[in-house]
Amino acid sequence: MTKLDKRGNPVSYHSQAAIEALDHAGDMLAAYQADTLGAIDAVIAEHPDFALAHAMRAGALATATDKAFEDEALKSQKAAETLAPKANEREQLYIAGGRAWLGGDLERGVELWGRASMLYPRDLTALQLAHAGDFFLGYSHMLRDRVARVLPKWNRNVPGYGFVHGMYAFGLEESGDYAAAEMHGREAFGLNKQDGWAAHAVAHVMEMQGRGKDGVDFLEATSAGWEPGSGFAYHLWWHKALFHLDMNDVKAALKLFDEKISAGGFGQALELIDGSAMLWRLHVLGHDVGKRWDDLVEKWESRIDHGYYVFNDVNAMMAFAATGNVTAQDRLIAAVKRAAGAQGTNAMMSREVGLPAVEGFAAFGRGEYAKAIEHLSPIRAKANRYGGSHAQRDMFSWTLTEAAIRAGDRALADAFVAERLSWKPESPVNRAWAARAAKLNGKQAA
Ligand SMILES: [Fe+2]
Repeated sequence: MTKLDKRGNPVSYHSQAAIEALDHAGDMLAAYQADTLGAIDAVIAEHPDFALAHAMRAGALATATDKAFEDEALKSQKAAETLAPKANEREQLYIAGGRAWLGGDLERGVELWGRASMLYPRDLTALQLAHAGDFFLGYSHMLRDRVARVLPKWNRNVPGYGFVHGMYAFGLEESGDYAAAEMHGREAFGLNKQDGWAAHAVAHVMEMQGRGKDGVDFLEATSAGWEPGSGFAYHLWWHKALFHLDMNDVKAALKLFDEKISAGGFGQALELIDGSAMLWRLHVLGHDVGKRWDDLVEKWESRIDHGYYVFNDVNAMMAFAATGNVTAQDRLIAAVKRAAGAQGTNAMMSREVGLPAVEGFAAFGRGEYAKAIEHLSPIRAKANRYGGSHAQRDMFSWTLTEAAIRAGDRALADAFVAERLSWKPESPVNRAWAARAAKLNGKQAA
């Protein structure tokens, strides 16, 4: 008789105990727990012929979007492929998704994980892998709609219901439906205080609405739930630092960088991204961040030639540009050009967004502000093609605004400032930019 997991999905493996242990690892994955991999490894150690466990491990590692984890991901993928002939349809889709993603076709990978989610709507991990894929591909609306496809099949009695609502909340936020996003996010977090992704959705709403004080208060009030054991807490602390920064509290932002954002030692690209993205914002505003770039520069340097996921490369460039590391800048630009000429999803991302972005940030670092604008302005409209969230891609608007002011270009400065004020009129950072723009001489917009 076919074995089922705790949500009723068919599993080809014979041991119910192994299936239950993998269910638990899946819940840990959904809660972004730091030792999820350890939990999957424990299942595999006892059950080395469990195809789904290998496929889940491959998917979890693949969606870390860091070449440093590629060898391990490929090892799991290979083990899953060997066991594939015995796997059922659902597991075959996991394996095919991992094969496509790790082969460089991220779009196909998401499609296959998403197909598993549609055919087995109570498969939490398939949905999560596809959701993560949508995030890394910048598929803002699919972050919402892929979850909407399966939501009717869930209810409070199905374990993990809160996680699905948390994902839906983030998708609503990235689609601009802030009121519904906050409602679903708060509901999901209310169901499961460990659900950092749900809290994250609420934080994003507050970020997009310029509700700095609300954001600080919300994250402080909820951290006892989402922080313990989390492998994602650094990112929620990064959001809190963003709120402080937007309220001009640089000291609080730096304190969070020192105590929380850097706490994991920048061991993975996703942490490095947050480190760079915080320090770059401070750098652009002219704040001295001391030696905080040093660790990031060293770790990004070891990844320069990867050509793996250009979102990482752009954040690496921030570290190289801010520290005037011309050698690393040149090497990185050459690597992104090579990636742009290769095959696969990252090549498209590198061509469309990555290359102008790294060249724009390098120009800003050299003080060539007009040139920075020439590179960065055209990608504002299509930056979603290289993945991430609206809050992360705000980096382009942030840098363009400062560049226009430093270039003394009154018309462009007024326009970029007006754009920022349109969605965050109370932001002290935006108001400071407005005041500086207003003092510029030169041609105003007609
Ligand atoms: Fe975020």
